[in-house]
Amino acid sequence: MTVDNYLKAIATRRTTYALKPELPAGVSINDIQRAVQTIIKETPTSFNSQVNRAIILTGEAHKSVWDHVVKNIPGEAGKKRPQSARDEAYGSIIFFTDDVITEKLQAQFAAFAAAFPQFADHSSGAAQIHTWTVLHQLGLGSHLQHYNGYVKGALPKEIPVTWSIHAQLVFGAPAAEPGEKSYAENPVKVFS
Ligand SMILES: Cc1cc2nc3c(=O)[nH]c(=O)nc-3n(C[C@H](O)[C@H](O)[C@H](O)COP(=O)(O)O)c2cc1C
Repeated sequence: MTVDNYLKAIATRRTTYALKPELPAGVSINDIQRAVQTIIKETPTSFNSQVNRAIILTGEAHKSVWDHVVKNIPGEAGKKRPQSARDEAYGSIIFFTDDVITEKLQAQFAAFAAAFPQFADHSSGAAQIHTWTVLHQLGLGSHLQHYNGYVKGALPKEIPVTWSIHAQLVFGAPAAEPGEKSYAENPVKVFS
């Protein structure tokens, strides 16, 4: 891949809310699993602690998580996004970091103790945006959500209690193009 192709992949990743509960032609759940597995493996972590974790929910597992969010979140307006995730998306990728690793680092490197939860956040964010970009390259639409506390209560029981939940990337076949995006002027200057 050339640098220009990599930059183009970064620039074309978008938030796509209009989704269909299917995968685009030619894309399988194995393609998505392979991509997420590589991203979780290769995204850098502080002290190479490999704190990132992820799961992929589809079918009933996906629906029951979002149904739980719909039922528990207060107010009708707040239910709209989780309802659309439940009914219009094919699946969701849930991003975690493992507190066992963060706490071990805090004990081992006391001088940085306060920084390790933030380092875990940073690395999870990097994994989330890598995944978002790759899904877009696969022809999927996706949007990033943070119903963390609500999602937690309905996850598969195999998920260790030490995994802190950071975000949900909701995906499906795109049903419409994302809207126009506006940009601020933020020139990056070189100082020599
Ligand atoms: C750290 C972060 C948190 C975000 N949280 C949410 C969210 O909770 N819900 C949501 O609908 N979009 C969320 N977004 C999506 C942003 O609103 C979106 O990326 C931004 O408006 C730019 O649009 P684009 O993704 O199409 O480039 C989040 C994005 C980032 C990077």
